[in-house]
Amino acid sequence: MKNIFKKLFSKSMVSLVLVWLADEAVTSAQTGESALEEMASNDTFLWMILVLEGLLITIGLILIVVILKMNHILFGQAVAEAEEAVAAPGIFAEWWQKLTDIVPVDKEEEVMTDHEYDGIIELDNNLPPWWKMLFNASIVFAAVYIGYYHFSDAGPSSQEEYIAEMRQAEAEVSAYMAQRANAVDELNVVTVEEEAALAEGKKIFDANCAACHGREGQGGVGPNVTDNYWIHGGDIKDVFKTIKYGVPAKGMIPWKSQLSPSQMQKVASYILTLVGTDPANPKEPQGEYYAPAGKEEPTNISDNESEANKQNLSLRQ
Ligand code: HEC
Repeated sequence: MKNIFKKLFSKSMVSLVLVWLADEAVTSAQTGESALEEMASNDTFLWMILVLEGLLITIGLILIVVILKMNHILFGQAVAEAEEAVAAPGIFAEWWQKLTDIVPVDKEEEVMTDHEYDGIIELDNNLPPWWKMLFNASIVFAAVYIGYYHFSDAGPSSQEEYIAEMRQAEAEVSAYMAQRANAVDELNVVTVEEEAALAEGKKIFDANCAACHGREGQGGVGPNVTDNYWIHGGDIKDVFKTIKYGVPAKGMIPWKSQLSPSQMQKVASYILTLVGTDPANPKEPQGEYYAPAGKEEPTNISDNESEANKQNLSLRQ
């Protein structure tokens, strides 16, 4: 038996060395692969793994024993200390007695009443002092509370609190809406219709755009924005996009760094209200006819504007 183990051990040691050598060979010259393969098919290889496993299990067992020993040393001591503490009533026990006013079991007869139910006797224990303290504190608190919130003007009433909270919520909502308003881009923009917003759009137009597009949008350096012909599209999204990115090559600057998205939305909406206003001295129509929702291109020749458009179109053809 002993001999077998000895043999196994020396064999596995030899194979360990062999594997190490083979590995060296692989990493240095990449030629040891066949040697490793041979090794894997060899029994010694298996034995070596078994021995290694045995070693690991032994180490694990030793560790478990060590942990159990430590456990015993640490907690054995703690238990002993706790037992000592219970034996001698310390400060804690005194406090506990003061707080609860418990009658010890051996003095139970002093508080026993003559109420007996099937052998169960009712005791007349004192209310625990901690409970009485809380009870008195709550009475004092209630008095202070009522005085502060209901009889003096110092604290807000529920009604006032509600109003204040609603006000704050409104402020938060409008802050959120303002932030949303600035989240508009050429993909989600819609025309605004509120008069205040359009008035603001007109202000922006007069200040920034009228120089090129005319006071009334009739056109000048820039195209007429009161007709239905648009070079870059007459939909709100198109107009917004033209304003935002401009057409730098043709003299229309991008406005995205000077106007907020909300401002561009307002001025774009304002421009669209100018369509069909027929100002004096209009610049000739440019671009494609854009039919605002549902309308067709006018065919009526007596219509001055459309005649001009027709001429303009035929001129270009
Ligand atoms: C410096 C002159 C100039 C100013 C200022 C200017 N534009 Fe323009 N704008 C142009 C020109 C030129 C074009 C034509 C671009 C082209 O031919 O592609 C144009 C085109 C446009 C178009 C597209 C018209 C179409 O037919 O598709 C819109 C909309 C427009 N501008 C809006 C504005 C707004 C809004 C402002 C002010 C915030 C503004 N522009 C300020 C010169 C200007």
